[in-house]
Amino acid sequence: MGSLNRASKALRSKYQVLLSGFSTFSPSSAIFEANRTLDGSSSYYFGSQHAYYSNSRQGTSGDIGLDLSQYSPERIRNFSIIAHIDHGKSTLADRLLELTGTIKRGHGQPQYLDKLQVERERGITVKAQTATMFHRHICNGSDITDSQEPPSFLLNLIDTPGHVDFNYEVSRSLAACQGALLVVDAAQGVQAQTVANFYLAFESNLTIIPIINKIDQLTADPDRVKAQLKTMFDLDPTDAILTSAKTGQGLEHVLPAVIERIPCPPGKINSPLRVLLLDSYYDEYKGVICHVAVVDGTLRKGDKIASVATRQVYEVSDVGIMHPELTPTGMLLTGQVGYVVSGMRSTKEARVGDTLCHARSVVDPLPGFKPVRHMVFSGVYPANGSDFEELNHAIERLTCNDASVSVTKETSAALGIGFRCGFLGLLHMDVFHQRLEQEYGAQVISTTPTVPYIFEFSDGSKVHVQNPAALDSDPKKRVTKCWEPSVIATIIFPSEYVGSVITLCSERRGEQLEYSFIDSQRAFMKYRMPLREIVVDFYDELKSMTSGYASFDYEDAEYQVSDLVKLDILLNGQPVDAMATIAHKLKAQRLGREMVDKLKKFIDRQMFEITIQAAIGSKVIARETVPAMRKNVLAKCYGGDITRKKKLLEKQKEGKKRMKLVGSVDIPQEAFHELLKIS
Ligand code: GTP
Repeated sequence: MGSLNRASKALRSKYQVLLSGFSTFSPSSAIFEANRTLDGSSSYYFGSQHAYYSNSRQGTSGDIGLDLSQYSPERIRNFSIIAHIDHGKSTLADRLLELTGTIKRGHGQPQYLDKLQVERERGITVKAQTATMFHRHICNGSDITDSQEPPSFLLNLIDTPGHVDFNYEVSRSLAACQGALLVVDAAQGVQAQTVANFYLAFESNLTIIPIINKIDQLTADPDRVKAQLKTMFDLDPTDAILTSAKTGQGLEHVLPAVIERIPCPPGKINSPLRVLLLDSYYDEYKGVICHVAVVDGTLRKGDKIASVATRQVYEVSDVGIMHPELTPTGMLLTGQVGYVVSGMRSTKEARVGDTLCHARSVVDPLPGFKPVRHMVFSGVYPANGSDFEELNHAIERLTCNDASVSVTKETSAALGIGFRCGFLGLLHMDVFHQRLEQEYGAQVISTTPTVPYIFEFSDGSKVHVQNPAALDSDPKKRVTKCWEPSVIATIIFPSEYVGSVITLCSERRGEQLEYSFIDSQRAFMKYRMPLREIVVDFYDELKSMTSGYASFDYEDAEYQVSDLVKLDILLNGQPVDAMATIAHKLKAQRLGREMVDKLKKFIDRQMFEITIQAAIGSKVIARETVPAMRKNVLAKCYGGDITRKKKLLEKQKEGKKRMKLVGSVDIPQEAFHELLKIS
């Protein structure tokens, strides 16, 4: 036994030496590493992105050679990477994928798991992404001889978004994990979303491994961050791993910590199949692809499965892992995370949080996910009314990949038939619009965003108002009481800005709940604030007043009684339903003035005078006029070729396509967009 332990130690140090050579890791050694990561009887070769396998033990998969049956739950670890925005989650994920040979080093695509165009353009993660890796490791105390290879572990890594608007992605990802790497920037220290994400992981009973990243920076101060982790979360400073995802320093400690500290998935291999549907997306060729976690039992290609929610039956036509692209394996076993294709056609069938089981069995549903609470609602209309069907199709496909958007049809007098969509915040709304445009070529106009209010009327009725235009202005029904949603905001910032931050929060009707210091340089505050006050530009203002050093996060809280009014915008005396909004009585005057001024800038002169008014009920609170003028595009075109004149008129017609005719007034799309930026 003693000699076995000595051998095990020797082997361990051999592998540690191999891993610690990471900073000088070459592409060829990446392939070598990859070859060693699977079972001895397997061999595989990495192309640029895809893996091709050959394996003598095809097992029961009947598909390609990667045999997952050797990975019992004890040899599986499922973990998320969570952090404040930009602390290095996706870069760390890149390094771990390289270290395990899952992708080639120098693959030329930083933040490999940020696959959407919108993510690459904005440099942020908006979708959680899963990747399966294989890694050999000797656990403490296990006996192994010199001739044996250390056992291979199957590791599922989920890279999550950092921005507060995408917290729902994080909470769903955590449901498939037993542990989380909490990444903190060594210079910036604990930030607001570090706190939010820590509590999400803590409340899900996950094992948390603190990673202090970016230690290569000149301003890095890992000791200060360790002290913050202790003060804020009672995390043992000696548990923290110091890394630089940029240079590779310290990364050799990450996967051993994942394997040694995070428990294996708790499911039972011999129990009836229970699969948690984590996410889905639509693929033109395969249809709906579901990301799933197998909680109990085994899922095989050809199985007949049923949704516990709808009892609809499907046949599994493909099943596999993300390695990091879709890699068929023919089966997924207890504790494994992967994908399933089963002929589902829409979000109505692929319900995120649903449990899938074998068609003939009856199982208790898994807890699923807590329902999404939509923070912001806005109308989404086709820029060209005749494109409604295309938009309908695009929204159906996109919501398949973004379960946190709610969609109902609505009609606007100004914009025609469209949709009322609920979002988790303005960034989420913005990203949804961008994806509609980039991924589906849909041109949309969105109406002024609003938070969901509750109004009570003199006849005792209560309505939830997601569309201000729908608020009844029936003179017989007086509004007797209204409520608006509030949030608990967490703000972390350098202590010298305490005065200005308190002033800003008071101006935004905030009520201070907590005020402390996380160390000698940074203050921590909690405020209860109306959601309406933070949703548009609060974070921008907070950042600019603290020279960019403040961080901010919020969680939804209960509704509060408030003094609200409906603010109408009228063009030539006609209310424009798509521009109506609800505001606090004390702020309505200023808001009305700003909206009127903005519209005046964006509405071109037309052949008649246009009056723009903001009104509360019948009382006009702001007014501007756009004088009449005909824009003659041919004015400067003296004589010359008729084709040139035609060209100019065609160009003018093109411009008009992007206008919305409201009553008799043409409103450019930008006017709608600009109104979104007023709080
Ligand atoms: P979100 O997904 O938007 O929340 O960001 P993230 O946490 O995934 O951060 P990401 O990996 O996109 O990195 C943000 C920036 O930090 C990028 O410019 C990275 O190159 C840089 N970065 C990441 N890790 C390190 C590091 O260890 N050292 C240094 N100096 N820069 C790093």
